[in-house]
Amino acid sequence: MIKLSVDEREIWVEEGLTLLEACLKNGIYVPNLCFLEGGEQAPQASCRLCFVEIQGARQPVTSCTVTVREGMCVCTDTPAVRDLQQSALKLLLSMHRVECARCSANRKCALQQMAAFLRVGLKVASLPDLEALRVEEGHPVFDYHPYRCVLCGRCVLACERRNGRPLLTFAERGLRTRVVSLWDPNSLSSPCQACRACISVCPVAALTFKASPPMAP
Ligand code: SF4
Ligand code: SF4
Ligand code: FES
Repeated sequence: MIKLSVDEREIWVEEGLTLLEACLKNGIYVPNLCFLEGGEQAPQASCRLCFVEIQGARQPVTSCTVTVREGMCVCTDTPAVRDLQQSALKLLLSMHRVECARCSANRKCALQQMAAFLRVGLKVASLPDLEALRVEEGHPVFDYHPYRCVLCGRCVLACERRNGRPLLTFAERGLRTRVVSLWDPNSLSSPCQACRACISVCPVAALTFKASPPMAP
């Protein structure tokens, strides 16, 4: 076990953990979206939310990319850390259609949790082109809502872990970036086996199960 100090509190954690895992396992919340526990893949570090300050480092670092070391001294709530996290969240929200009242993630959504924690309003001005994006309903089991997707990549990682090979990836750029099947960029369905690993790790409701068909009269 390794001893480190986080926010002036001593914690003991297993060797090999990331700093983000060490904090979360000890009840110290660090905002995060793209990190997925377990697996061999390197952290994606794409959401830029999990910043912390480590004593001796020149600037804040992403805690999901740092492995714990004996004697580390860490601060999770400095002004510089909060500033970076708030900027990252505002950027994400500018590309997100906030429609909580009719969203299946309402009240269990990672974005809502982060917005409350970082005191960022959920209704930051969004980009006008967001309204043009439509739900993709081509998959037999689930729907994809590109205007909610935070591009965290957790579904891509989870799918690869479950199936032993990559089946999902990102396509296009900018606001049109979306999750697609590696084999058919126009479809989320092929050669998906509907294992549902992707849906289970989505931190927002960008992937949702199709509504049950209406009962026959
Ligand atoms: S994903 Fe979260 S923030 Fe976005 S509409 Fe749904 S509940 Fe609201
Ligand atoms: S669909 Fe969900 S898990 Fe996949 S990239 Fe978008 S937000 Fe992340
Ligand atoms: S959780 Fe570390 S950058 Fe996303």
